[in-house]
Amino acid sequence: MRQAKRFTSIEMSLIRQMNAMAKPSTINLGIGEPNVEPDVELLSMARAAATGDWHYSPNAGNLSLRELVSARHGGSHDPNREICVTAGTMEALYAIAQAFVDPGDEVLVPDPGFLAYPAIATLAGATPVPYPLLPGSWDVDLDTLRRLVTPRTKMIVVNTPSNPTGAILCEKTLRAIAALADEHDILVVADEVYSEIFYETRPPSMLGMGRNVVVVDGMSKSHVMTGLRLGWILARPELMTTIYKSHQYIATCASVFSQQLAERILASSEWNAGWLVRMRAQFAAQRDALLDALRDDLGLTLPPPAAAFYAFFAIPSPDSLALATKAAAEADVLVIPGIAFGERGEGHLRVSYASDIATLREGVRRLSPIVRGA
Ligand SMILES: Cc1ncc(COP(=O)(O)O)c(C=O)c1O
Repeated sequence: MRQAKRFTSIEMSLIRQMNAMAKPSTINLGIGEPNVEPDVELLSMARAAATGDWHYSPNAGNLSLRELVSARHGGSHDPNREICVTAGTMEALYAIAQAFVDPGDEVLVPDPGFLAYPAIATLAGATPVPYPLLPGSWDVDLDTLRRLVTPRTKMIVVNTPSNPTGAILCEKTLRAIAALADEHDILVVADEVYSEIFYETRPPSMLGMGRNVVVVDGMSKSHVMTGLRLGWILARPELMTTIYKSHQYIATCASVFSQQLAERILASSEWNAGWLVRMRAQFAAQRDALLDALRDDLGLTLPPPAAAFYAFFAIPSPDSLALATKAAAEADVLVIPGIAFGERGEGHLRVSYASDIATLREGVRRLSPIVRGA
């Protein structure tokens, strides 16, 4: 059977391919999900969500959850018309692209950036156009972004905090992107799924920065709910009308069990605030341990990533895939090659610090001779 033409250039992600190399003995520093254990309270909320009432919810999600999502984002969005609960942020991104992107359109995606963005644009028939992030600060190169806008540009994907860089984009940059999009009538999709995982200052959100800004966020990273598939979209009503239709024919509704759990979490504001503080403290300690190990074993001094749980750093090799493959095969340690995130990710590695400190130290110890020998 010949596959649909739109899949011709779509491969299983390099992250999945790398993870497939993992053995039971492998130290896996490729992980893209939190290693925070649910506490007693979170587990008891999950049990309480086991109500047995798991019929379809409204397509947009239960209104009681949408009200809490609206409050979580400052109350600017009407739960009745401007919020859609989705099966994770990934479905949110897919539903938005299906709703607005036509074959022949161009979609601007960050490079280096989360590898789903170009795939989602391609599956909507569009051409993904990478826009560069500046090495080191990983800020958006606004001049280049402006130059890349053409009459065919339909959508700009912005990811802050970023996977893979762990960087936060500043408010000035975000406002400039929103203004550019409004000027050319381009949709901006701000993927803010790491918004709660930050260390010094809260990342600015793009919400409300422009007429064409759509924000996606969710519970996967903030509440160790990656397998429960719970995310959401915030957009003005004129945009949401089509997003609701798109989401309806992709997922019908997000898992009702997950919705009920999310509702309990967001309603327990005191517990939730404490959870987020503890989660950030755990990641901060793991981040610092990783940076210490990279300094001691590899002589690398990195500025601490401001958010998420990734360190993204340059390696002395132009072939990150060969180096990551060698690390997996010869040192039994798994890291993600920068090329997985786009051409400008080449020459870098992404190391996740969503692991306990002993594992991080052992992982870097194993990685060290491979990187030094590159
Ligand atoms: C930047 C980014 N966006 C979206 C997702 C997907 O998250 P979700 O589990 O909410 O679908 C991920 C997961 O790794 C991610 O890194």
